[in-house]
Amino acid sequence: SPPSSNEQLYDVSVVEYGPQFGVVVRRKSTNTTVFSTDVPGMTFSDQFLQITTRLPSDNLYGFGEHNHRQFKHDMNWRTWSIFTRDSGPVGPENLYGAHPVYLNLEDDENANMVLLKNSNGMDITLQPSPNPAVTYRVIGGILDFYIFMGPSPEQAVQQYIQSIGLPVMPPYWSLGFHLSRWGYKDLEDMQMVINRTRDAGIPYDVQWADIDYMYNFMDFTYDKSDWPGLPDLVEDLHRNNQKFVVILDSGIASNTTLIHGAKQNSPGFNIYQDGIDKKMYVKDVSGNELIGEVWPGQTAYPDFTRSNTMNWWLKWMRYLHKNQSIEFDALWIDMNEPSNFVDGSIHSCNSSSKLNFPPYGAHILGTEIDGRLFSKTLCMDSHQHWGRHYDVHNLYAHSQTIRIHDALINMSAPKRPWAITRSSFVGTGKYATKWMGDNQSKWPQLHWSIISIMEFSMFGFAMNGADICGFWYEADYEMCLRWHQLGAFYPFSRNHNAKGDNPVIFKHQDPAGWDEHFIDIVKPVLLTRYRLLPYLYTLMYKAHEEGYMVMKALLFEFPKDRNTWSVDRQFLLGPALLISPALEQNQTIVDAYFPKARWYEYHTGKEITQTGVVHQLYTPLDKFNLHLRGGYVIPWQEPSTTTHQSRTNFMGIIIALDENQLANGELFWDDGESLETYKNNQSSVLTFTMVKAGELTFDFQTNNYRAAELRKIQVIEIYGLDRIPDKVFVDDIRVDDYKIRQSEKIIQIMDLHIYFFNINFSPWVVRWEID
Ligand code: NOJ
Repeated sequence: SPPSSNEQLYDVSVVEYGPQFGVVVRRKSTNTTVFSTDVPGMTFSDQFLQITTRLPSDNLYGFGEHNHRQFKHDMNWRTWSIFTRDSGPVGPENLYGAHPVYLNLEDDENANMVLLKNSNGMDITLQPSPNPAVTYRVIGGILDFYIFMGPSPEQAVQQYIQSIGLPVMPPYWSLGFHLSRWGYKDLEDMQMVINRTRDAGIPYDVQWADIDYMYNFMDFTYDKSDWPGLPDLVEDLHRNNQKFVVILDSGIASNTTLIHGAKQNSPGFNIYQDGIDKKMYVKDVSGNELIGEVWPGQTAYPDFTRSNTMNWWLKWMRYLHKNQSIEFDALWIDMNEPSNFVDGSIHSCNSSSKLNFPPYGAHILGTEIDGRLFSKTLCMDSHQHWGRHYDVHNLYAHSQTIRIHDALINMSAPKRPWAITRSSFVGTGKYATKWMGDNQSKWPQLHWSIISIMEFSMFGFAMNGADICGFWYEADYEMCLRWHQLGAFYPFSRNHNAKGDNPVIFKHQDPAGWDEHFIDIVKPVLLTRYRLLPYLYTLMYKAHEEGYMVMKALLFEFPKDRNTWSVDRQFLLGPALLISPALEQNQTIVDAYFPKARWYEYHTGKEITQTGVVHQLYTPLDKFNLHLRGGYVIPWQEPSTTTHQSRTNFMGIIIALDENQLANGELFWDDGESLETYKNNQSSVLTFTMVKAGELTFDFQTNNYRAAELRKIQVIEIYGLDRIPDKVFVDDIRVDDYKIRQSEKIIQIMDLHIYFFNINFSPWVVRWEID
């Protein structure tokens, strides 16, 4: 946990040179200068601010959102721009989110994290050793730096996340597997995919509807001719304990009559008019609604920086949910950079405005065309409640997620809200989940997705993921299989596909649509995800309550081990699960680094004998690499094909022992869907503690969750025993029913009845002894 606030890890001094001055921040314990602006060239003007800060080392991570092709930055004068933009993760340009924050490792295992809290567009230029530095060139606002001193990398990130807002707690079902695509032909097509996935027995919790379901692509409507039975489809999902998520775009159709021949009294038109009456939209420089163009044609853009957009949005959410009977369970909010198919507005933008054409446009995508900052978005001189669009552009989605989060609470409480956003800013993780936008069905994307998810973990999004099998282009069989083996371990696991390039409609890429062989390979890996959901859910709780990362780079658990500093083809889920995926075509060997610790192969319990080295793991197509770290107790639950069903099954634990024959762990549990169960005393935290070898105690840190029926731990597996014990006791009663796997030194204790989540629970002790 972070050091207490009275223990100041730094001192600050100001150095003056000539007319300028520099701020120097030093880590007291090591005398390392962690941050220093003692470099000439600082400029402070209205639309151009420049500052260079020295770094203690060139081990730099973060800044976003970009498609970084390596987790540890290439410092060789690379420039990255930050400005929210509708652009997919392929090239080096600025993408959907704005996260001007980095993590730096200080050449010992200490780390600091530095945020430039500024919502304007900017360039970041990285300078290599021997004088590693970052140069910020910002096009507005102020220079407001926050430095988080760690000292460990995980602590630095945790301090950052605690100060920007702890990640939202997702509902349990959202940790299941999701199916989505843009380009379901009609309702029958979607139903066909639902049916074949169920028939194949593929674990699957959530069906998504993209803009296809809408009437003329207008928010809060649905197409009653191609999707007449949509309410029934949703009902059927609910009957099967599955969920339904709908997309809502930011732009509200403004010219329904002219463009699509819709009637003036069509629902889409009413929404627009209602927004005009309530003054909900972003205004152009003359004070009229700024009109751009998105899927439905001409659109106005809600100004979510106004707090009353919450009620207006809520009203129309209810309209869709109740009046139109589309009982969605969560919202997918897209195109919120905000995206616009015309530059600025349908009338372009005022060409004499320095906001639209700033003197320095940074290397922001689009500014290469005559310096226009409004490319594919709104005019920068338009107005929002929080300020000029120029200054609040990067906050568009952030303000939207705040309103939608509140609206969802209002609509669904006591159930917790769940929304997923494409664009984001510092702190958005408090309100929404994030996905990585329009990636491609191409092999390198598998690797890149790991990097961006690990970065977004650092940015305070506990739950995030990339489109499994890729969005643009047609997925290839082997790639799609490997991607499921990878994506089954994304915190957010969704297969999503693009419609295609007119007139070509991309083939379906849902797992059941390939063949039996494909299904046979994907099912076990998704079942493994479902089996480990109690562990994953506990990580979500740790993120939500304390700011721990869920999916993270190896360096966070092994900061002393320099070999981990650049590992970005493997990742950890929490401290205890290591995933080493196959990421290349025709790959059968995965080079996997195992930091010094005890590691066990998940399926067999076999120990990795030598650590601190790279192992070549044989990984044919039907195999995926998952390892458990010694020292941890991992809770699991017998999986079914929905999380609802899984949650009725028995549980088990794997005790993965460390070199001292010890392991610890915990399990967070609640009903999986109520708001703030931890704060409201409706949840339990079960702890698994070993203070000495051979004895594990089950106890509660808090015990407030009352299950409808008693839950039990039925199986205990112990990995990594020095010797096979002769006797096993559960609460002093000797157990005879256990299996021994002599070669792997594993015992499996079956058919236990360790009940918990009842009021009268008293600690259970499991003991194993050698005569
Ligand atoms: C862009 C989103 O990124 C993508 O996921 C979605 O399918 C399309 N918009 C269509 O709504």
